[in-house]
Amino acid sequence: MAKQEDQFKKVLSHAKEYGYVFQSSEIYDGLSAVYDYAQNGVELKKNIRDYWWKAMVQMHENIVGIDAAILMHPTTWKASGHVDAFNDPLIDNKDSKKRYRADVLIEDYCLKIEGKINKEVTKAAKRFGDAFNKEEFLATNGRVVGYQDKIKTILARMGKSLENEDLADVKLLIEELEIADPLTGSKNWTEVKQFNLMFGTKIGASADNSTQVYLRPETAQGIFVNFLNVQKTGRMKIPFGIAQTGKAFRNEIVARQFIFRMREFEQMEMQYFVKPGTQKLWYDQWKETRLKWHLSLGMGAENYRFHDHAKLAHYADAAADIEFNFPFGFKELEGIHSRTDFDLKAHEEHSGKKLQYFDHEENKSYTPYVVETSIGLDRMFLAVFSNSLVEEALENGTTRTVLKLPSVLAPFKAAVLPLVKKDGLPEVARKIMEDLKWDFNVFYDEKDAVGKRYRRQDAAGTPFCITVDHDTLTDNSVTIRHRDTMEQKRVAIASLKDIIKAEVAVKTWLQKMEA
Ligand code: GAP
Repeated sequence: MAKQEDQFKKVLSHAKEYGYVFQSSEIYDGLSAVYDYAQNGVELKKNIRDYWWKAMVQMHENIVGIDAAILMHPTTWKASGHVDAFNDPLIDNKDSKKRYRADVLIEDYCLKIEGKINKEVTKAAKRFGDAFNKEEFLATNGRVVGYQDKIKTILARMGKSLENEDLADVKLLIEELEIADPLTGSKNWTEVKQFNLMFGTKIGASADNSTQVYLRPETAQGIFVNFLNVQKTGRMKIPFGIAQTGKAFRNEIVARQFIFRMREFEQMEMQYFVKPGTQKLWYDQWKETRLKWHLSLGMGAENYRFHDHAKLAHYADAAADIEFNFPFGFKELEGIHSRTDFDLKAHEEHSGKKLQYFDHEENKSYTPYVVETSIGLDRMFLAVFSNSLVEEALENGTTRTVLKLPSVLAPFKAAVLPLVKKDGLPEVARKIMEDLKWDFNVFYDEKDAVGKRYRRQDAAGTPFCITVDHDTLTDNSVTIRHRDTMEQKRVAIASLKDIIKAEVAVKTWLQKMEA
């Protein structure tokens, strides 16, 4: 646990030091759960978005993109259920005046029990050495089984109470478990209340005729309300998809874990409209396809797992998360939901407009079913960034910090470095840079010794360093150094483009999905 926390702290400071993520309005001490992407971060974020867009939109003839507005007609959110049901259970501590999510307090309590299980496992592993069988130990050790049962009972009761809107029982559970305010230790709690997560604002110049609107809490509804517009103007045939990326806003009560849970974040969503009855097939297919997309980035199959939802949202007939092994454990990265015809039917009902599809093969109209894939861009950023940050022990006894970003996503693909700032080397380096920048984002650096510059580029995540030295002036060759292997090769300037392209091209990476 301490090791994980340590790694997370390193991620936070590295993100700031190397110009990836800054706290929003930092000079005013920041705004909770709101972040800015800095000069390198904005490039990484854009590359992740482009990688998703290429795979989801441009590689599929039957998927198109849109960019709907953040502000939508307020009835949208009535129809989608967000006005009535997009709530978190909230509890205040009367002494500290701090506000918490009641379910998170209970889940954190369970995490502590899980910590005790992990301690027992570590102890037993030490005691039994090579003969230790973790699965068997978890299934048979009396104390551990007791802890597991306790977690199951607590979570089952909480789930049931939340489903039945029995908030009094949620409070009772907190009291029975003697859960205290994590900051002050006080157990003096208020009742549990539902808290709507949507940010509201007003449209209109005067108070009398202004309209209450919301900042969208998900991008999906912009797709649903445009379903027929896109289908008709694009002459789309079912099955087909509509994708979009864009900002979403949620007034999250628990603001922590850096960019994992933000109040303003970006989603990349795709709604796939299918014939009723075929949704299970498409749901399974999209689960598989989306996992392949993640795996194509080479961040380790062991770092992903599916979590199938036992308790389904009112609109879903199946749902699963792709969870990623973040520095604080496995957590949701992406959701795949079979949303039935709930959304289109609800918008039909509230708008009075027919949102049906005429199927020429079947010669009838119907409301399509929808399978949705929904991933948080910021979470994906955190997954990529935290997974890539490593400290490497070198043969000479020193360590180096390397950001081993999948090179297709790296902000800069290469850095061009003149060995010294004289003898005409900067001029040649600039010329190489001018040529490469038409195809790649390239960085120029002539400050400090070349070894120091290599380290800087390693830590910033740049896959290649190209060094121009005195030999370059006579033989038109340069040294190209690879970030991950540190291998250096002498190559012709004329071959640089091909060498870089072979490694960083979207095609090189996305083709791994087909393997
Ligand atoms: N349209 C479906 C939908 O919005 P969701 O599970 O609420 O489903 C989808 O959100 C994804 O959006 C999540 O898997 C997560 O990656 C991202 N996400 C949700 N809330 C977030 C937040 N507060 N901060 C950052 N990302 C968030």
